[in-house]
Amino acid sequence: MQSDKINAMKNKLFLSLIGASLLLSACQPNKPQQKNDLEARVDSVLNLMTLEEKVGQLTLFTSDMDQTGAFIRKEYENDIKQAKVGAIFNAYGADYTRYLQEMAIKNTRLRIPLIFGYDVVHGHRTIFPVPLGEAASWDLEAIEKSARIAAIEASAEGLHWTFAPMCDVTRDPRWGRIVEGAGEDPFLASKIAVARVNGFQGDDVYQTNTLAACVKHFAAYGASQAGRDYHAVDMSERMLRETYMPPYKAAIDAGALTVMTSFNDLNGIPVTASRYLMTEILRDEWGFSGFVVTDYTSIMELLYHGVAGDTLEAAEKSINAGVDMDMQSGFYQTALVSLVEQKRVDVAVIDQAVRNILKVKFQLGLFDDPFRYSSNEREKQEIMKPEFLDAARDVARKSIVLLKNENQLLPLDKNTKTIAVIGPFADNQRELIGSWSAAGDWSKSVSLLEGIRTKVPNVNILHAMGSEITGDETSMIKEAVATARKADVVILAVGEAAWMSGEAASRTKLDLPEIQQQLVEAIHETGKPIVVVLMNGRPLTINWIDENIPSVLETWFLGTTTGHAIADVIFGDYNPSGKLPVTFPRSVGQIPIHYDMRNTGRPFNPDSKFTSKYLDESNDPLYVFGHGLSYTTFSYGPVTLSNQSINENETLEASVTITNTGNYAGTEIAQLYIHDPVASVARPVKELKGFKKVELMPNESKTIAFTIGFDELAFYRENMSFGVEAGQINVMIGTNSRDTQSASFMLE
Ligand code: GLC
Repeated sequence: MQSDKINAMKNKLFLSLIGASLLLSACQPNKPQQKNDLEARVDSVLNLMTLEEKVGQLTLFTSDMDQTGAFIRKEYENDIKQAKVGAIFNAYGADYTRYLQEMAIKNTRLRIPLIFGYDVVHGHRTIFPVPLGEAASWDLEAIEKSARIAAIEASAEGLHWTFAPMCDVTRDPRWGRIVEGAGEDPFLASKIAVARVNGFQGDDVYQTNTLAACVKHFAAYGASQAGRDYHAVDMSERMLRETYMPPYKAAIDAGALTVMTSFNDLNGIPVTASRYLMTEILRDEWGFSGFVVTDYTSIMELLYHGVAGDTLEAAEKSINAGVDMDMQSGFYQTALVSLVEQKRVDVAVIDQAVRNILKVKFQLGLFDDPFRYSSNEREKQEIMKPEFLDAARDVARKSIVLLKNENQLLPLDKNTKTIAVIGPFADNQRELIGSWSAAGDWSKSVSLLEGIRTKVPNVNILHAMGSEITGDETSMIKEAVATARKADVVILAVGEAAWMSGEAASRTKLDLPEIQQQLVEAIHETGKPIVVVLMNGRPLTINWIDENIPSVLETWFLGTTTGHAIADVIFGDYNPSGKLPVTFPRSVGQIPIHYDMRNTGRPFNPDSKFTSKYLDESNDPLYVFGHGLSYTTFSYGPVTLSNQSINENETLEASVTITNTGNYAGTEIAQLYIHDPVASVARPVKELKGFKKVELMPNESKTIAFTIGFDELAFYRENMSFGVEAGQINVMIGTNSRDTQSASFMLE
């Protein structure tokens, strides 16, 4: 009896202490926290925690509001009440997050606030183009604004943390998650990763209209073997460092507060158990000071990888590798206390993981006010505002890539008498928001048909679906052909369903689904002028379309404002400026195919048998990295260099004059590539090292300049040191990765 009384008094004292320390922290002015002040506040809480409460902070479970992985654990509310979980994902809404937060604050001894995370990848309610599509805009400002708006909407619904940006470089379009990233190039992907982190976190992550970013999936997930999701990854240290690491590092250098581990193994070591990646590189080399969360059940998956024999070993390997938070496997919750008792895990390791997590909660202001993000007022005010939809339409238009436009069929005349809009994507809304569309409501997206009807209300618009997206039902093709025959021009909308890319959506073929190919060929038979509008989440081998259809627009999945954005381009209210962030192969057999390959010792020579080639396919892609046409034409003058030689501490300017030689005002994305023809290591035949968007009126010229110095020229040399080497450097500037003007200089 006596001990209960004492315990009750102790708890009361604890609560009043906690109340006092939280109160103390709460009454601190909401000024940006200095490092030592922040650490002191974190330790003031850590020092009060039992081991069980510490383990609770290392555990993340999903609510049952949305499902983004194999299974859901129903006991998450009990876990919250018993301080067995410190973070919840897939829960949003002012009321629901407040309900869950109150559950934590009112029922737990120390009342440590929960952090709420969700996959806000390309918008929350206002859905923006899928990330690969946005990458085609090469517009860093627009991309940052897209993430900024996503953060404003998501935080207005009680969210603190997004599982984005996805920074996985990939050269394999068989891999469905290519849709979530920024394509094949480390330089472009790095710039975009920074823009997205800045957009999500804003200038001050303490503000309630921001989200903590999460750099994922660290590391090299995009190189999954054979493009099959979750598969093994094997690569050299050089390839890891040069191709796959830069976007993760750029995002972390931009201040991202969290990192997510990837499902794959790297050279046989599952990433979630890799101390090399999670501590030696991430912490020791890069100085990352936030927290690391696993991907969905990744700790449990160490059993399947075959590097852990049981729950204890899996948890032991992960925590000792430097993984702070366990998403959904529950293995930390089950095993860590025992592991400490068995001295297999030092409590100091647990403490550091807890510090990393509590620090982010303090930085988000959750200890000052755990309910500060759960605001019904903001929830009403901040969702799908007109200016958000305008921003979505702006970046959507900029994401569209004009792949082909024979005889200038596009832009269509707004006084065309009759236009037929045909195909499974003509009047589709569901697919337009793509995968990972969070809380997006597809019924609010603008279909292509709606966008066209709105744009040209006086034109006679006909519609026929023609086919499903997949399947073998051919009965609708006949009606579509008849509809096409009545029109002056046909807009034919074909592509992939949203579920055909994204997670667990690898494909062994990259063709248009067969039934749609039949539809395209049947409409082509009518002889009518055709504009193909592609909606897809990856490069497709649309060789037949490229050979037979005069105009082709790559529109990806453009999100809520799809129809308006495409109509803006089709009718010339926006001159397309997008450029491909990824190579389009002619054949799956060419994969991996990317612009920055090495020359080999036997580069292809059509006049010699014994050179690097295929017997049954060209080496060339269908469309090169950086490809994208305009309704106007641009010409590039010669590249001029400010110096003929520099040393490694100097820079030079590479300039080129670009002229709009056509009849439309337009925006050109000029690209800078470099090549080191002789070095201690065989170098890629070219590497993107800069790009600039240039707006030009007809007949207008502008001279642009790129600075070239150490940052553009350094690479991992033969001994893996990072630096430059003397010798000739070739500089190429152009409209894509193939058509460039070049010059050379000497690096002393
Ligand atoms: C998924 C994805 C990851 C996502 C996480 C939470 O399996 O791999 O990108 O953030 O689970 O939904």
